[in-house]
Amino acid sequence: MKSKISELKKKIKNLESLIDASLVFSSTLDIDALLDIILQKAEELMDAEASSVFRIDEEKNELYFITARGEKGKEVKEIRIPMGKGIVGWVAQHKKPLLVPDVTKDPRWFSGVDKKTKFVTRSILAVPLMVKGKIIGVAEVLNKRGNKKFTKEDLEVYSALANQMAIAIENASLYKELDELFLSSIRAIVEAIDAKDPYTKGHSARVVEYALLIGEGMKLDKEGLKDLELSAVLHDVGKIGIPDRILSKPGLLNSEEYNYMKRHPEFGAEIVGPIKKLKNLVPNILHHHEKYDGTGYPMGLKGKNIPMGARVIAIADSFDAMTSDRPYRPKMQTDEAIAEIKKNRRTQFDPEIVDIFIKALQKHFP
Ligand SMILES: [Fe+2]
Repeated sequence: MKSKISELKKKIKNLESLIDASLVFSSTLDIDALLDIILQKAEELMDAEASSVFRIDEEKNELYFITARGEKGKEVKEIRIPMGKGIVGWVAQHKKPLLVPDVTKDPRWFSGVDKKTKFVTRSILAVPLMVKGKIIGVAEVLNKRGNKKFTKEDLEVYSALANQMAIAIENASLYKELDELFLSSIRAIVEAIDAKDPYTKGHSARVVEYALLIGEGMKLDKEGLKDLELSAVLHDVGKIGIPDRILSKPGLLNSEEYNYMKRHPEFGAEIVGPIKKLKNLVPNILHHHEKYDGTGYPMGLKGKNIPMGARVIAIADSFDAMTSDRPYRPKMQTDEAIAEIKKNRRTQFDPEIVDIFIKALQKHFP
């Protein structure tokens, strides 16, 4: 009776851990963050020394590490395992979980990974990651802590966990794919706008490069860098509303044309504003021609009242314009352009961001 109660208590605890894991897994769509959580949870729940997740390269019929924890993680990522080879390859081919209490006694054991990582594997628990009957990868935990062996019960719990891991990985991967598709569509549209004028060809892509250099120098987080990248890609999207006779005019613009041209940040904000996913970029697009001393457009915002992303793009944009040929003047050399940016520190540009930009430029293009 007593043992039945303790067995029941253990089952309830396992169930609680599984529910907890499923909640944690559904908390993020960022694939890297998710994989980190998955490995951590698997090690914790299975009381294992290490864990890894593999995906399947269908074209090459191979498995490859998508993540492995610890300092060996980087080396391990380069290792590929042919389908059917080793424990992991066997699990992928047979779509069945496998418990190997002592790897040295299993002929399927492939020691190549251990040789490369210097990790000593004793026991393995490997499970297929299945979504709607299709295998998408394999997860494994290595070496139960305290020199213990994985049990059949561990196998049951890990298999249940694998169902949740598989769904979470598939969702995050699909989201990543969609996100990449979205970004590449935006890039294609912007490149088409830039290409209308031979002098601005590739401009937006270069502004992105400089803006990200600054963003990294400012130690922005992943989300901040992504917003900055998209804002930089789209900063001139409003030029789509400027007639070609103004946009591609070979000489300097007259004042009426110039005033019309100055409306492109507002047009850009109008285009991007209704797109829910891009709404938070509107301030960066609308204000990328503001000047630090308040003499810019469209609103004459001053200093830190100008959104941070817009202050970054202003520098990246000007630097690229100066170092590109224009119909009315040849391009400046890098050091001349840097001197010009420095000269306009505090009048046109945020002085702190100027310093970060120059430092980053010297580091990346010495
Ligand atoms: Fe602009």
